[in-house]
Amino acid sequence: MRLVYLTSEMAPFAKTGGLADVLGALPAQMQRMGHEVRVFMPAYASIDRKKYPLSPAPGLEELDLHLGSHRYRVGFATTRQPGTDLTVHLVHCPALFGRPGIYSSDPDEHRRFLCLSWAALEACRQLRFAPDVVHCNDWQTGLVPLGLKTIYARDPVLGRARSLLTIHNLQYQGGFPASILGETRLQGSAPLFHQDQLKEGRLSFLLHGVLYADGITTVSPTYSREIQTPEHGAGLDHLLRERSSRVVGVLNGVDYREWSPESDRLIPHRFSAEDLSGKEKCKEVLLGKLGLPYRQGVPVLGVVSRLVAQKGLDLLLDVAPDLLTRWGFQLVVLGSGEGRLEERFAQLQAAYRPQVCFYRGFNNELAHLIEAGADAFVMPSRYEPCGLNQLYSLRYGTVPIVHRTGGLADTVIPFDARTGQGTGVAFEHHDAQGLRWAIETALNLYKNKPAWRRCMLNGMAQDYSWEKQAKVYEELYRRAQQV
Ligand code: ADP
Ligand code: GLC
Repeated sequence: MRLVYLTSEMAPFAKTGGLADVLGALPAQMQRMGHEVRVFMPAYASIDRKKYPLSPAPGLEELDLHLGSHRYRVGFATTRQPGTDLTVHLVHCPALFGRPGIYSSDPDEHRRFLCLSWAALEACRQLRFAPDVVHCNDWQTGLVPLGLKTIYARDPVLGRARSLLTIHNLQYQGGFPASILGETRLQGSAPLFHQDQLKEGRLSFLLHGVLYADGITTVSPTYSREIQTPEHGAGLDHLLRERSSRVVGVLNGVDYREWSPESDRLIPHRFSAEDLSGKEKCKEVLLGKLGLPYRQGVPVLGVVSRLVAQKGLDLLLDVAPDLLTRWGFQLVVLGSGEGRLEERFAQLQAAYRPQVCFYRGFNNELAHLIEAGADAFVMPSRYEPCGLNQLYSLRYGTVPIVHRTGGLADTVIPFDARTGQGTGVAFEHHDAQGLRWAIETALNLYKNKPAWRRCMLNGMAQDYSWEKQAKVYEELYRRAQQV
């Protein structure tokens, strides 16, 4: 098949979260499976050009893009994804992408990702690359399915293309004032927009993706069911229910080339299920780096996360003082995001140093070291479409402590000391008591060395490789072509 991927993030070029990891792995895997793949993402100013040199894109010429009264000169560059044979196309438009960071709250945010969307399709035309499937990701590419059904319906190159939309997070819908309709290039198809929404003065990209994509996936089976309920549907549950036969939950995979303790180039000591000694050494290095004392037998809990309400870390902040005092464990937190959460973690660190370290920022190397060196990993997410860190934790023998929701519910099996089965601890009710119970359960388990080791090894034996999951997408691409 000929496959086009459209994305706002891709590892290692531009990353804020798991979307980058997924796009960093799935397209390359599809290419390895013999498909012809093109990936398009913005040429953000923040992409490190020294590490990832950009070259001119052969066969692609600059184009003028008109979005309402706004005109943009758009070019293309290419680069090779390290460690793969995959060529990535970068949409070059300094007026839109030449600013710090990946996302913005600037008034032209919709135009930034419309530029990505339409420039990518125009590039396919220039290259005469006729995709069987255009795989869209999240709200940023949500208007592409409608574009394919209207602007490009009779196009010789794009006319046969079907669209698949993956929802990585339903809460981010790309909602804008309806007045931007004239800037979408789809104003000629205004009757095809959701009329009630327009009347309310709004226009959401993701909603229109849900309406018009030939296939819809989300990133775990449980989340695919949850988003069809009013509680988790973020206002789109009724539309998702209407299209229920097209909504499929496909669990994300793990790029074990990047995330395996046997081969991880970013950790100081490698280890495996057969020889765990390197893990203890990683723990020592981790604590040393963060200025915390290493004491054998003292458990270290780790967190690596965007600091946003979704991740439920306010619960951890609520229960941590009492638990830290009573249990004496250490806590290592890497993250950045909302000011209020950053501030609370900084206060926790100030009150509990050297038991607690909060590293504010984004640091991939430290993320790997925490996965390797921590004993347990805390993810009390309110909701979690898939979650990748619990999957990485499993592989690194770092016992996940999670709220039983979304992809966390699908991947962490509660450990049962009687049978020796299970891979972590999961709590049901999203409140302080639930998390307190889960952390105490894990800390008690940690005292029982053989049981803890069993739990670690069970986790390390799990296989969430992309090799498996990519086959599921392959099947869905085939199905999308049949509509
Ligand atoms: P989400 O996509 O909702 O943020 P995931 O668990 O799917 O959650 O993926 C998060 C990814 O982002 C993981 O690869 C994680 O290691 C990484 N990550 C999150 N915050 C940081 C940070 N502060 N520094 C380094 N990596 C981070
Ligand atoms: C989103 C979700 C996360 C998921 C990631 C990749 O950011 O919050 O749960 O793992 O996308 O699909």
